[in-house]
Amino acid sequence: MEEITALAKRRGFIFPSSEIYGGVNGAWDYGPVGVELKRNVREAWWRDIVELRDDVVGLDSSILMHPDVWRASGHLENFHDQMVDCRTCKKRFRADHITGPNCPACGNATLTEPRAFNMMFKTQSGALEGASSEVYLRPETAQGMFVDFRLVYQTARKKPPFGIAQIGKAFRNEITPGNFTFRSREFEVMELEYFVPSRPEGASLERYAQWVRDRYAWWLALGMQPERLRKHEYSGADLAHYSRATTDIEYDYPFGWGELEGIAHRGTFDLAHHVEASGKDLSFFDEATKESYLPEVIEPALGVDRALLVFLIDAYERETDRTVLHFHPRLAPYKVAVFPLVRNKSEIVELAAGIERGLRPAMRTVFDDSGNVGKRYYRQDEIGTPYCVTVDYESLGQADVTVRDRDTKAQERVSIDRLKEYLLPRIRAG
Ligand code: GAP
Repeated sequence: MEEITALAKRRGFIFPSSEIYGGVNGAWDYGPVGVELKRNVREAWWRDIVELRDDVVGLDSSILMHPDVWRASGHLENFHDQMVDCRTCKKRFRADHITGPNCPACGNATLTEPRAFNMMFKTQSGALEGASSEVYLRPETAQGMFVDFRLVYQTARKKPPFGIAQIGKAFRNEITPGNFTFRSREFEVMELEYFVPSRPEGASLERYAQWVRDRYAWWLALGMQPERLRKHEYSGADLAHYSRATTDIEYDYPFGWGELEGIAHRGTFDLAHHVEASGKDLSFFDEATKESYLPEVIEPALGVDRALLVFLIDAYERETDRTVLHFHPRLAPYKVAVFPLVRNKSEIVELAAGIERGLRPAMRTVFDDSGNVGKRYYRQDEIGTPYCVTVDYESLGQADVTVRDRDTKAQERVSIDRLKEYLLPRIRAG
């Protein structure tokens, strides 16, 4: 994990937030390469969950919502971690991380009893301070999709089974943020609320099972190593109170197995609570049967930052002579790097710059003319660029270039006028 954290900083993927002031716990900045990777993670999900389906529509709801939303959803009452404080060193710990009577930091037996600690960030809306202006930063995007359910299905003219998808920031005052971006206080989630008719009996459980299979397959299709993924199905007392069934997709992180994505069958819990709390009808009226009903909900939810971290860990390989990130080409921050072999021959530099500009509208490119070619390959391997194109002396006469494959290091001469059609299928299919 230390190697990955160091690489992420050195190459511009992820920096500590506000580092010049000593940083802030649980918040991270994405650098020039990281921001491209993050966009690609979001876009891979959005394309597969929304664009390539005809039964899912998108939503971008607000971060600040009416405080009653969190009362109805149960977050005010239940979104807690149990924590203990040390009276001597003043450090705070999650109760489930404490094994004995002594403080893990200072060793004194001066721990408080566990206390419930709500993880929502509270702030004020408007100029007046007081209980009536208190609002919360959302800890998930899901509630926006429930409270807008009726507006969405009416405006999109959708009928269950259909889904609403959303990507956006979420905030949780985690007691122990850590393991790099794995547990942050500010992060982004990608959530799908998939609404299913409650009849026939069992149909929603079949949908749930289908989503578990589909979501698992998604990770594999993006090149994840199968032996580092597993499913963990919850049962009995381990299920959240609102859930009829839940499966986590877990990843084998450097610090052990941990959650990557959760797929939950939430039944009618959320819609029913919002109906009760708001007094508004959120049921779906089925024209065919002339019946109103509350659909059941299947929710696949994952963190963008956590997904990015997993893609980074999974792609990372240290070979004897280089470090390489074997990103799936859909995720790679840059698809192609273009180099002039030398900097002091203007015809070569201009030809390389022209090739890079020509490819730019079709794929994410980067131009690099600093240091020798070996160093440039090294740099691109470390940020996971699948292809490097080098323009050399022969290129001037033969109108071709060397294309080097990141994973095999194999090199091939490709004519310049065929270069785009050579690269496009490779960076799309992976
Ligand atoms: N609406 C469902 C929900 O919020 P969750 O399991 O609490 O479910 C969804 O969160 C996903 O968000 C998790 O599977 C994980 O990928 C990510 N996530 C949760 N807490 C996080 C945190 N503190 N930092 C980074 N990612 C987090």
